[in-house]
Amino acid sequence: MSNAPPVIEIRDLHKSYGALEVLKGVSVTAPRGHVVSLIGSSGSGKSTLLRCCNLLEDSQQGEILFEGEPISWRGKGNGRKPSDGAQVLRVRTNLSMVFQQFNLWAHMTVLENVMEAPVTVLRELKADVETRARALLAKVGIGDKCDVYPAQLSGGQQQRAAIARALAMNPKALLFDEPTSALDPELEQEVVKVIRDLANEGRTMLIVTHDMRLAADVSDHVIFLHQGRIEEEGPPEALFGAPKSPRLQQFLSATAPA
Ligand SMILES: Nc1ncnc2c1ncn2[C@@H]1O[C@H](COP(=O)(O)OP(=O)(O)OP(=O)(O)O)[C@@H](O)[C@H]1O
Ligand SMILES: [Mg+2]
Repeated sequence: MSNAPPVIEIRDLHKSYGALEVLKGVSVTAPRGHVVSLIGSSGSGKSTLLRCCNLLEDSQQGEILFEGEPISWRGKGNGRKPSDGAQVLRVRTNLSMVFQQFNLWAHMTVLENVMEAPVTVLRELKADVETRARALLAKVGIGDKCDVYPAQLSGGQQQRAAIARALAMNPKALLFDEPTSALDPELEQEVVKVIRDLANEGRTMLIVTHDMRLAADVSDHVIFLHQGRIEEEGPPEALFGAPKSPRLQQFLSATAPA
């Protein structure tokens, strides 16, 4: 296991939207079984980095490796695109994303939401997927909500359904973009508990969060992004306990304590 390549490795990634350079050479490694958190102020490039990681966004320079396999590109700079469609699909299906706004399909029941991608994208047998989907919904604590529609759930329940949906793909890593930011504090804790359980199970996760307590609690490694660069990174005890950069010190004093 120690010899396994990292699930995700990003090397010196540059990403611009037109003239705006959002990522200015960022490197991130997520070894198997590790939780890496990305923190930083609004606009620092956290969501962009996650979206580049699963190839939802193009980037202009730098490498992205999935389990040691470099993404192959054609073109350069603004014209750079992934060149291998099968590889893109493999990366996307193996890096499941969970969004701040849950993004469940409103016209499908909770169970149908969880079953959809394994059946249509992975072409797995419906009966097998259903068994797995029910087990995952029970695992995140909403096993009794299989047949209701997302609108009938609380925010915390919807987010847990979204996590079950992400897990149903049997991904190699989970990418979370502020999974608790849309939730009231008590609902937030339900979701934090599920994320903590996943961390304890040894899931590989990349988590963008404003919740410093969550980051301190579950992370093996924390990265502080500032204006598209890594300003400071390290184990959570160091980053939260003894931040070196004045910008990180200022950021932490302006947010709720870890
Ligand atoms: N599709 C887009 N087109 C143009 N600019 C964009 C686009 N998406 C993001 N940006 C810009 O890129 C920068 C980084 O945005 P990003 O969403 O990655 O920040 P973030 O760190 O996730 O912020 P937040 O904490 O508010 O979610 C911002 O200046 C933003 O305005
Ligand atoms: Mg964001």
